[in-house]
Amino acid sequence: MDIASTTGIGDAPPEPSPPPLIRREDYAPYPWRVPTTELRFVLGVDKTTVQAKLKVERNPHANPANVLRLNGDGLKPAGVWIDGSLANSWEMDGDDLLITLPGDAHEVSIDTQIDPAGNSQLMGLYASNGMLCTQCEAEGFRRITFFPDRPDVLSTYTVRMEGSKADFPVLLSNGNCTASGEGEDGSHWAEWHDPWPKPSYLFALVAGQLVANTDSFTTMNGRKVDLAIWVRPEDLSRTDHAMESLKRSMQWDEQAFGREYDLDVFNIVAVSDFNMGAMENKSLNIFNTKYVLADQETATDGDYDAIEGVIGHEYFHNWSGNRITCRDWFQLSLKEGFTVLRDQLFSAAMGSEPVKRIEDVRVLRSVQFPEDSGPLAHPIRPDSYREISNFYTATVYNKGAEVIRMMRTMAGEERFRRGTDLYFDRHDGEAATCEDFVTAIEDGAGLDLADFRRWYQQAGTPKVSAKLEHVGDTATLHLEQAVPATPGQPDKRPMPIPLKIALFDRKSGKHHGEQLVTLTEAQQTFSFAGFDESPVLSINRDFSAPVAIEREVADEDLVFLAANDDDPFARYEAMQDLVVGHLRGLLSGSVDAAKRDSGRAAIGEAFRAVIADGELDDLMRGELLTLPGETYLAEQMLVADPAAIRAEREGLKAWLGQSLESDLVAMHERAAAAPGGMSAEAKGARKIKTSALVFLAAGNPDLAETMAAAQYDAATTMTDRQGALMVLTSLQGPQRTHKLLDFYNRFKGNALVIDKWFALQASSLHPSVLEQVKALAGHPDFTLKNPNRVRSLYMPFTGTAQGFHAASGGGYKMIADLILELDPINPQTAARFVSPLGRWRRIEPERSALMKGELERIAAAPKLSRDTYEQVTRSLG
Ligand code: ARG
Ligand code: ZN
Repeated sequence: MDIASTTGIGDAPPEPSPPPLIRREDYAPYPWRVPTTELRFVLGVDKTTVQAKLKVERNPHANPANVLRLNGDGLKPAGVWIDGSLANSWEMDGDDLLITLPGDAHEVSIDTQIDPAGNSQLMGLYASNGMLCTQCEAEGFRRITFFPDRPDVLSTYTVRMEGSKADFPVLLSNGNCTASGEGEDGSHWAEWHDPWPKPSYLFALVAGQLVANTDSFTTMNGRKVDLAIWVRPEDLSRTDHAMESLKRSMQWDEQAFGREYDLDVFNIVAVSDFNMGAMENKSLNIFNTKYVLADQETATDGDYDAIEGVIGHEYFHNWSGNRITCRDWFQLSLKEGFTVLRDQLFSAAMGSEPVKRIEDVRVLRSVQFPEDSGPLAHPIRPDSYREISNFYTATVYNKGAEVIRMMRTMAGEERFRRGTDLYFDRHDGEAATCEDFVTAIEDGAGLDLADFRRWYQQAGTPKVSAKLEHVGDTATLHLEQAVPATPGQPDKRPMPIPLKIALFDRKSGKHHGEQLVTLTEAQQTFSFAGFDESPVLSINRDFSAPVAIEREVADEDLVFLAANDDDPFARYEAMQDLVVGHLRGLLSGSVDAAKRDSGRAAIGEAFRAVIADGELDDLMRGELLTLPGETYLAEQMLVADPAAIRAEREGLKAWLGQSLESDLVAMHERAAAAPGGMSAEAKGARKIKTSALVFLAAGNPDLAETMAAAQYDAATTMTDRQGALMVLTSLQGPQRTHKLLDFYNRFKGNALVIDKWFALQASSLHPSVLEQVKALAGHPDFTLKNPNRVRSLYMPFTGTAQGFHAASGGGYKMIADLILELDPINPQTAARFVSPLGRWRRIEPERSALMKGELERIAAAPKLSRDTYEQVTRSLG
């Protein structure tokens, strides 16, 4: 074909065509089945050869096709065989391989060759620190070999790996090791077989110089499972917490959901170059080192909790994800939303239930709410995408979990369990849909979820306004809901919103029982008799629905709830509302100096009560003393001025630090005397020590500097050391430099701790954070090749009012430059940095124009990945 006529040479340069839009409604079953897959790897860091042998047969439930379309991504077939004979009845269609097949069943073999060391995207088979590992979800398998790379094609895998015994002494894949042996010239091989049919995204392979922490777990029906956590030799001493977490996960899933493990081995491998948190490959979970390695000296209490949560999450996927997988990627929340709920319930059961709930809501409100009110808003079950990696979002994961949690709240624990039992039973071995899940809960729990399904269809955080009226002896609650317009969804219908409420008697400080009211209409009224005096309303207790409550409420009622509410979440919420209401008033200019003082006094009174309350445990006390974050505050405003939010919030912090100075110092002293260890008491003491320093730093910087430096020097845990250093990093005294240097030298060579060193500086309140981050990007330890390092420097920075939101626009430019430089190296990680710039419509006009300008500059780049292209165009659209 004439090349000039297709490329338009001689005319204007061709517009690169946008990556295609994939639609949920276009789903069609695959015309072929692949009952078995055999893979043979000859492993090398720079060159790995892959032979794939697929048994294929026609799928009687699909429209017939004579062509077998196998997805590829950057691959060339080195040879294609059909039923053992070299074939030429194939052609390429873009990256895909099309093979014409005459009969109903064939054996298709394909040879390919890949370069793991050159794979900087970290999708498919790649090299990390000399080892080889894989990441196939969502569409990485097609970078290893040609395959129907979609979750509804399930196949039984047999994998043979061969390679240098010196370079790759350990060879792992899914299932059981069935044979192994020595080859020539120092090579060896191993064969693994996974009896459970699975989609290609759950395939995994690991080869490297690894050592294992081994243990075992005996399941409820007596199956002994060999457990191993594989790491580099120098990391072995930091794997005990992960192993304990794994055993607790296995046991909890039996008790809470009746789920038993289904193989004789379970392996976890820790990898230092990883795009996400971890991956649930069947019996061979691969983890970011961040979610495996911990000891008290190098990991914070928060890190310990995150490890327990992620180990649980990936383990729970064995049923919610692997035994029952997704029909297509639009159903991602089927496995992710449900599995997040399962990991949240697990962590709550292992630690403090109320504290875990507060932490989960904080993440939802600071990450998912902004997503839901911005240009990237999408339903938990999206309708279209260009790059599925962009939909591994807080909406699909965390809002997805909240939606299922609402079903649990409406059904009650026991009936919900009947629903999940039915789901696991009915769909075991299938690639299912969100609709299948809802129907199973409906049938098993006996709920009518007809209207509730709208939570899967409609994006946007519902706003619920609540007003309590009191006439005679009756309290009347007026509720009204509005689901805001989101991109592509201008009109919304009301959704069922389950709200736990209680009405408190002002004198006794008690209520007459919690009730669940479900708001199903746009407007509804609920009446409660038997109140001589107007009660105090506690609403959305335990955060029973992922909505924003709007109500006029007197400060004195919030102070009352902060002191008296027996629902710990509601107590936390009252504190938050008190502060949000106060700061919102100041920021909108509707509050004068006198009212500011009375607002502060109310907040100060509530804080003092929290510090003094002998009934509270310190973990909960720490939550109650946490001010609402700047993103959550910005979310309360139609158009936000980040500098003003920072100034008012810091102003309040300083006032609290000054007026509560002696209480905070005493609290710090008391906590510093508490015993160490990993008990809730010890963790609580560490938490409030740093909370005290945070307020003191704002109120009395010199005192805080001395106290933080002392805490740093006395620290025997990373929690104390990092907390102190965080405070010092935001101050401008000499201890900042001293301790940052000490920290670096002390932990040089420990990548996860050096990540903290970058992150602390990049998130600081220091006025020069922009220049500091710029300088850190040139530090010899900084590299764009490692996602943890990139995220540790630049993600915290996007939260800095004085850095990212610097009036000069220098912060926006820095992030846009990062995206452009990182995009060709690692598009998945690059695209994650678009959303902070995508907030431009909700920021004051001058900064807004600068942010939009940077997005336009990215959009104009000659070549963008699908990932970044999609996020930037949606953000501008
Ligand atoms: N399924 C994994 C988890 O949540 C996430 C893997 C996503 N990976 C990706 N490259 N998009 O547990
Ligand atoms: Zn997951």
